[in-house]
Amino acid sequence: MNLSALQVLQHRLPQAHPRVALVLGSGWGGAVAALLDPVRVPYAELPGFPVPSVQGHASDLVWGRLGPHEVVVLTGRKHTYETGDAAAMKLPLRTLREWGCEVLVQTNAAGSLRADIPPGSLMVLSDHLNLPQRSPLVGEPGNDRFVSMLDAYDPALRAQALAAAQACGSSLHEGVYAWFLGPQFETPAEIRMAQRLGADAVGMSTVPETIIARHLGLKVLALSLITNMGAGLSAETLSHAHTLAQANAAGERASRVLTAVLENLSW
Ligand code: HPA
Repeated sequence: MNLSALQVLQHRLPQAHPRVALVLGSGWGGAVAALLDPVRVPYAELPGFPVPSVQGHASDLVWGRLGPHEVVVLTGRKHTYETGDAAAMKLPLRTLREWGCEVLVQTNAAGSLRADIPPGSLMVLSDHLNLPQRSPLVGEPGNDRFVSMLDAYDPALRAQALAAAQACGSSLHEGVYAWFLGPQFETPAEIRMAQRLGADAVGMSTVPETIIARHLGLKVLALSLITNMGAGLSAETLSHAHTLAQANAAGERASRVLTAVLENLSW
């Protein structure tokens, strides 16, 4: 008998009723340690879950309790740049929706476009620019494919995140995230373009998952850990190793803020 990912999860965790889904990006992994009674299920045991190929990105689903919530964590995501498929995370997110999740909290590492948001900063997304103009909804049938992207990042959840960060003594910026397909980093000219278009940070993830989540009816909150200035804005040369090193350096604070944000979510 071929079980679906949802059936596997319901079999492994018959008592679980998670309402919050969390996707971890580079640097945010420490939040998993805050979960009580964690249960880990490798993606390889969940039919249709894509195993990421990027170093520094794990590939387990972890269920656990955090404050008043049951949270289900995707410790890694498949990026569009890995295969060209913007819908790579559709099945995992649909599975979590069907399992009962109502909120998707996303995290990522990003490059800053603003001198007043230096490396090590945290930013909550207020909006995004889908610069590649790729959609995970291409091929979806029905009129519900025409998803409104107004308030794609839920204003009430953003306000709660800002309050929770302040309560734990960490500043949290708010800004617009521009999605670049990658995997190459941006050119300095592309960084100047993104600045002129109104972006505050750039990255290679998150936007496809936000679109999928809005289509599924999930509320979305997204947080960036700034690991570097955008290309050409500082003297440093960008590399994946640099991103991971910076993400690890700031990761403890990021995870502490994330834990506080999750504990205080209500919707
Ligand atoms: N550009 C794109 N993605 C990133 C960056 C960047 O500068 N830093 C971390 N992820």
